[in-house]
Amino acid sequence: MCPNTQKRTKMPYYKKYIFLLILALLSFQTDAKVPAIIVFGDSSVDAGNNNHISTVLKSNFEPYGRDFYGHRPTGRFSNGRIPTDFISEAFGLRPFVPAYLDPSYNIGDFAQGVCFASAGTGYDNTTSDVLNVIPLWKEVEYFKDYQNKLKAYAGTVKANSIIAEALYIISIGTNDFLENYYTMPNRRSQYTIDQYQGFLLGIAEQFTKELYQLGARKIVLTGLPPMGCLPLERTTNFFGGNGDGCMETYNTVALKFNGKLNGLVKKLNGELHGVSAVFSSPYYTLLQIIRKPSVFGFETAAVACCASGMFEMGYLCDRLNPFTCTDANKYVFWDSFHPTEKTNRIISDYVIKNVVNGFL
Ligand SMILES: *[C@@H]1O[C@H](CO)[C@@H](O)[C@H](O)[C@H]1NC(C)=O
Repeated sequence: MCPNTQKRTKMPYYKKYIFLLILALLSFQTDAKVPAIIVFGDSSVDAGNNNHISTVLKSNFEPYGRDFYGHRPTGRFSNGRIPTDFISEAFGLRPFVPAYLDPSYNIGDFAQGVCFASAGTGYDNTTSDVLNVIPLWKEVEYFKDYQNKLKAYAGTVKANSIIAEALYIISIGTNDFLENYYTMPNRRSQYTIDQYQGFLLGIAEQFTKELYQLGARKIVLTGLPPMGCLPLERTTNFFGGNGDGCMETYNTVALKFNGKLNGLVKKLNGELHGVSAVFSSPYYTLLQIIRKPSVFGFETAAVACCASGMFEMGYLCDRLNPFTCTDANKYVFWDSFHPTEKTNRIISDYVIKNVVNGFL
């Protein structure tokens, strides 16, 4: 008989509970089965690819990044880290995911995680044309280029295992509606909003199937946020809304599109052998924060920290603006379109516990 048994059974109930809790938390942090995080999408997950292309949609200047490591503006559209950074950290990988076009990282770094996302892009090719950013099909071309470099660096066998075991995070779609459909005349003259959603869903299906063909197996498809509650939309909807100033039409579209994406994920799991796809919706978490900011320790969700907080992002949110807030932690939104690091962390915690923990 093990001499310790007596002692162990005498451990008080609550201590046992705490012990188990600590064990669970430890394994939560370190039991990584995922060798890399690979990211596709728009500004919700862009780690700085737009710094290296000719677009006006950039954020590689202060005050962006003022709460990031080294207080460095990286091209992330926030004061600090973005959700994919927190997810990478939770998997025991680097606490941030670098941008593929950033020359200060090499294939050795990217072997653990890489971001192909581009702020301002969408599922629809014509969305990336609006601000001359990287179209989604080109993110896939970069991914193919990455695979070749990874094979040269790590050998084919190891590279293939990284590609098969990596977690793929896709976060895109808001710009198709806000920057393209509801702003530019073309798509609105061709499609009703329902038809346009169907069109985007077809692209999402093609795209995820292409990733599968290229070796991806663990796929997280992210839904749209309550995009009618972004400060920019609230500003233009100042006298409208449902009492909360949010643009209800946009929120309804987001929910409907999320339902379709969820259906797509089910379909992929049924059709693609060996795939493990999950749908991740930031919608309700963010809406809860927006409706009751004080519960989460915020002071306001209606305006953003940067500049007047009503419409500025990118170059309008620069360090010379005298109105930028001093403590971003009091704000749900950093600029008129993007959450603060604190909000990103809350959303990521939810995603880690409820969506991707099956992959941990
Ligand atoms: C988007 O553009 C690429 C490159 O020209 C093309 O291959 C693809 O078919 C286009 N997608 C759609 C949905 O038109």
